[in-house]
Amino acid sequence: MRTVATDAETTPYLVDLSPQEIRRRLPEALAIYVEAMGYPRGTEYHRAPMWIEHVSRPGWRGVGAVLSTPDAPLVAVAYGYHGARNQWWHQQVRDGLRKSGYTDEHIDGILDDYFELTELHVTPSAQGHGLGRALTRRLLQDRPEKSVLLSTPEVVQEENRAWRLYRRLGFEDVLRNFTFSGDRRPFAVLGHALPFE
Ligand SMILES: CC(C)(COP(=O)(O)OP(=O)(O)OC[C@H]1O[C@@H](n2cnc3c(N)ncnc32)[C@H](O)[C@@H]1OP(=O)(O)O)[C@@H](O)C(=O)NCCC(=O)NCCS
Repeated sequence: MRTVATDAETTPYLVDLSPQEIRRRLPEALAIYVEAMGYPRGTEYHRAPMWIEHVSRPGWRGVGAVLSTPDAPLVAVAYGYHGARNQWWHQQVRDGLRKSGYTDEHIDGILDDYFELTELHVTPSAQGHGLGRALTRRLLQDRPEKSVLLSTPEVVQEENRAWRLYRRLGFEDVLRNFTFSGDRRPFAVLGHALPFE
């Protein structure tokens, strides 16, 4: 596991997570996810197989953060992978773009070569200190794709940390008020060109 100092050159540290490392630290990582998202306890058991499957996708990259030594408990986790047509998220977004009136040519331009920023979570006590920004930048550093796409729940007036972070980083609307199959909540799909400045 390689460690990378954050902007502040103090703790917390970013740690590059290998596939083996994320599998080993999955309970910790999922605990952060459940706490940060405010999901009911037990959600982690449903998500675990999905996160494990994601690790095997082409272009998977993961980053975490720890407060002291590299083996200290994670306080943040983020990962993503190369988007591809056979993926559920890709198909859903493709359908959403089509329903929004985009031409197939335009849709192909958006979806032909992107990194999906799939998960980004910071434990509540460590939020608001630049970790989310550092994780995002690390994850997107030297990616070969043309762009990065992500989805995030809609909130009134974009008033939460995730929205503030994405807007500060320059993410722009791709789809708004979009509902994925099986989830009633409206989401936004946001995107940013790569390389990431
Ligand atoms: C969203 C989340 C990952 C962001 O991580 P974070 O460490 O809290 O984020 P950061 O501190 O890097 O950035 C967020 C804050 O810094 C500000 N910020 C970021 N970059 C900035 C910059 N260059 N200059 C000034 N402010 C900046 C943001 O506006 C935001 O401000 P706030 O503290 O007033 O809310 C984290 O808050 C979280 O896990 N939230 C719950 C789960 C979640 O929503 N996950 C994303 C789902 S898609």
